[in-house]
Amino acid sequence: MSLPRNILIVGSGGREHALVKACLASPAKPHIIVAPGNAGIAQDAYCVSVAADNVVGLVALAQREKVDFVIVGPEVPLSLGLVDELIKAKIPAYGPKADGARLEASKIFTKQILLKYKIPTAPAGFFSEVAPALAYLRTRPIPIVVKADGLAAGKGVIVAQTLAEAEEAVRSMLEGGKFGASGKQILIEDCMYGEETSILVVTSGRDYVILPVSQDHKRIGDGDTGPNTGGMGTYSPAEVVTPELLAQIDRDIVKPSVNAIADEGIDFRGTLFIGIMLTPQGPSVLEYNTRFGDPETQVVLPRIENDFLALLWAAARGELAGTKLTIKPDAAICVVIAAKGYPDSFKKGDPIVFPSTLPEQTAILHAGTARDADGQVVTNGGRVLGITSLAPTLTEAARRAYAACETIQCESKYYRHDIGAKQLNRK
Ligand code: GLY
Repeated sequence: MSLPRNILIVGSGGREHALVKACLASPAKPHIIVAPGNAGIAQDAYCVSVAADNVVGLVALAQREKVDFVIVGPEVPLSLGLVDELIKAKIPAYGPKADGARLEASKIFTKQILLKYKIPTAPAGFFSEVAPALAYLRTRPIPIVVKADGLAAGKGVIVAQTLAEAEEAVRSMLEGGKFGASGKQILIEDCMYGEETSILVVTSGRDYVILPVSQDHKRIGDGDTGPNTGGMGTYSPAEVVTPELLAQIDRDIVKPSVNAIADEGIDFRGTLFIGIMLTPQGPSVLEYNTRFGDPETQVVLPRIENDFLALLWAAARGELAGTKLTIKPDAAICVVIAAKGYPDSFKKGDPIVFPSTLPEQTAILHAGTARDADGQVVTNGGRVLGITSLAPTLTEAARRAYAACETIQCESKYYRHDIGAKQLNRK
């Protein structure tokens, strides 16, 4: 199989920086363009300032630069139909078309599929009017989860601890315009309890491979306290998912999900990221995402031995059958350095000074960074950097990543100090 040599990666986060590094490691030695990228990605690839949601601009860029493969990072361009437009322009792309991206863009659509195909998930009701939603709430156990149907940058999920909080969440979305059009329809779902795990599946329709299993830390504060974020750190392997449990997840969730999507007539070639709650009754689906996780990707990719570019190329071409993954036994960890104040308001433009050396097998992946007029790297987003280390044990990986975190100078830096602690404490 001949591999693409001139590729475009769409996005600007830590996930895209990890994708760039993994593709650069391919023996195909591709030339990589990133749109729009960030200050760190620009050290590894050629960044072009076209926004990730500018579908017309991205197709024009791919044509102008004679790109032979596009890898789409974030969900928004997928849901806007970027892959549909690229395929119309005869440019191969990795990522689902808009019909597949709907599995992330509409939580109600996903829940309907899960229920139709009897894939384990929590019971739920769907509403666009306040009165029936409030009536439904009174029939369900509290705490309960109220979700905006559409994309809301990871913020559209409210776990209500009391009936009053749940009623307020319903009103704020259906009457108050919270989350705008994304909250015009809502899903009310029973709360599930347990540990969460992230299962990333690369699929070409019916064939698929399950990538190394990881665990995210969604809350801003140590000990899983404070508001939800896009993710403050990850580690892999997540040993809570034993080989037996992974086989069960594959049998009861992954395979039925991939087949259900194909049976619905969706030709899904991309990443199906299944958020799973490990409940006492067994694994149960929280959500589908239709792209690589961030910061899951930062720990999953370094553990894969295969030529990663070849893997995505095979999936995009529908040629994944027979592909086997080789996974390194090492542990990986990613500690996210955020700007103080995130996920609420935070300052941009703070200078970042990087250490001259890093612990071994440690990389600084950039997310919200830019260069100011003087060429200084400064903060430019809520999640700023992802410090990723690989080591024979999680303890050693964590030591390396945290040693690097300490040596990065930035007045507004904030990070959690307990990434991976759940697994380490279990031991
Ligand atoms: N880290 C969670 C996500 O990518 O949605």
